[in-house]
Amino acid sequence: MNDLNVEHEKESTFVGDLKDSLNRMKTIDGYDYKAKERYHEPAPEHVDFEEFKKVVESRRSVRKFTDKKVPREVIDDCLDLAMLAPSSCNLQPWEFYVVQAPEKKAQLVEMCMSQHAAKTAAELIVIVSRTKSWPDVAKLNIEQWPQAEMPQHWKTFYKRGVPVSYWQGPLNIAGNAKKLFATVTGLSRPINRGPFSESDMRVWAAKSTALAAENLMLAFRAHNFDSCPMEGMDEKRIKKLLNLPKDAEVSMVLGVGERAKDGVFFPRVKFTRENFVHYC
Ligand SMILES: Cc1cc2nc3c(=O)[nH]c(=O)nc-3n(C[C@H](O)[C@H](O)[C@H](O)COP(=O)(O)O)c2cc1C
Repeated sequence: MNDLNVEHEKESTFVGDLKDSLNRMKTIDGYDYKAKERYHEPAPEHVDFEEFKKVVESRRSVRKFTDKKVPREVIDDCLDLAMLAPSSCNLQPWEFYVVQAPEKKAQLVEMCMSQHAAKTAAELIVIVSRTKSWPDVAKLNIEQWPQAEMPQHWKTFYKRGVPVSYWQGPLNIAGNAKKLFATVTGLSRPINRGPFSESDMRVWAAKSTALAAENLMLAFRAHNFDSCPMEGMDEKRIKKLLNLPKDAEVSMVLGVGERAKDGVFFPRVKFTRENFVHYC
């Protein structure tokens, strides 16, 4: 990767950072207005659309799997692809628990209401979203920046802007203050309207995690395995089983394995574009 030859900005003031983070103008995409040289990552020249389409179209929720094992390399490969999903501010609020210990797995099957998709799955992966992992991931963004130096304004964003954006404070004091600021400022111009509460944070984390979940399902499909996402499960029990932190939310449990001949129970039911797409 190219290193940026960055002309450093002056260290910004704390109040300035707060204002900037709330406004999310300078930092919203990390564009460095002062960089002398820009990073360049060309798109691949050719992507086989038909193969991609085959993967997307052949992904079905499979509720009955064969006994075939899923190789560890395949699982890891798919998880790596899952984690290439985009995430809000690159804060990657997801976690994946591949539950393989027989006793634990048996309990997890029960917690998935003993659904076929869980009972017959070769692997069960619990996909979790986190509302409070962002401070650690913000730190990782700084520590593991892939160039010689992180642009100063971007470092400031991860150090200060991210806490301003995602810390809601005890009794939601900070969240309420931000909401008030956004409501008043928003009367005269566009402004970010959240997240301003713990429940906003849950939605925030769920969005990015769901994208990773879809990547994961498609990756298994591309490896000729199948999956079934399950939210028909007892989240409370699963959290206890896996000893998950309080801020963790079980987004879904993914049953994975090789599709049995009668593993897809019904033909696909989808509706025409006109039902959901609005060009405006
Ligand atoms: C968040 C989520 C939760 C789901 N939960 C279950 C579930 O608990 N059990 C199940 O059999 N299918 C579950 N499904 C699968 C859906 O029923 C399925 O995706 C839908 O019927 C469309 O079928 P397709 O995935 O084969 O295209 C879930 C899907 C999603 C996205």
